Amino acid sequence: MFGGGRGNVRQQTLEDIAENIRERKFKRIVVMAGAGISTPSGIPDFRTPGSGLYDNLQQYNLPYAEAIFEINYFHHNPNPFFALAKELYPGNYQPNLTHYFIRLLHDKGQLLRMYTQNIDGLERMAGIPPKMLVEAHGTFATATCTVCRQNYKGEELRNDIMEGTIPKCPTCKGIIKPDIVFFGEELPQQFFTYLTDFPIADLLIVMGTSLEVEPFASLAGAVRGSVSRLLINRDLVGPFAWGSQRHNDVAELGDVVSGVKKLVELLGWKQELEVLMNVGGERVMEK
Ligand code: APR
Repeated sequence: MFGGGRGNVRQQTLEDIAENIRERKFKRIVVMAGAGISTPSGIPDFRTPGSGLYDNLQQYNLPYAEAIFEINYFHHNPNPFFALAKELYPGNYQPNLTHYFIRLLHDKGQLLRMYTQNIDGLERMAGIPPKMLVEAHGTFATATCTVCRQNYKGEELRNDIMEGTIPKCPTCKGIIKPDIVFFGEELPQQFFTYLTDFPIADLLIVMGTSLEVEPFASLAGAVRGSVSRLLINRDLVGPFAWGSQRHNDVAELGDVVSGVKKLVELLGWKQELEVLMNVGGERVMEK
């Protein structure tokens, strides 16, 4: 898969990583995730040719696909974003096995943090506590008036968005925008938690992301050289695609759920994960 590495150091395998997790040698695990972990839940990702969101925005007559998440375009015409928000608004989708695997890492005290680019809220729905999450591209859980900066709960916008009405601030009549990070906007302050997390991480797991968007993508290179990095993704991305020379990089290519299932089998956590998913499913259904 990769170059021969240096000298006679053996290339690490998924089995090596599983053994170190199972024996709790790895107990400060950082996860980096993107839209590819939510496609098994029925939410399209952005860049998979054909099915990705950016290939399916013709109806909005955008100058180019990413404009739908650009702050300047939003001020020019907020309708495409709110039409998309209606489709993506949390509440219509359930977390999948991948989200519950990360929840299980947390329950076992081995998750240091999950850095997600996703705005679908499925991590919280799977029971991963907000303090364990860095929602680097924001969230629908909260919203802010674009004029007077008044803060709102995401739930307060739900009816307008579902009815196709642009949410307006009762105080100043300005448009209220969900706290999704648009291209051209600052990332949340919490993103900078990486400055203390990544230097102490003892395993990095990268899942379901093309690693195309900065500054999130660069985090993949922010763990120490001695730290193992596991990619679970359909294809090689970021440093894994540049012909990484690290002997401790491992790539489990293919469907993310299959890759996670293979890891869970090696960990001997299949039973626990099924219990968690059943309980999680019921709880989520109760809401
Ligand atoms: N199994 C494995 N890999 C998958 C699956 C799956 N079921 N579904 C998708 N993938 C992979 C794709 O092959 C791709 O490599 O996940 C990756 C998804 O990449 P993108 O669609 O680019 O999504 P993401 O990396 O999250 O995009 C980053 O771009 O537009 C911005 O703000 C937006 O947060 C988003 C950012």
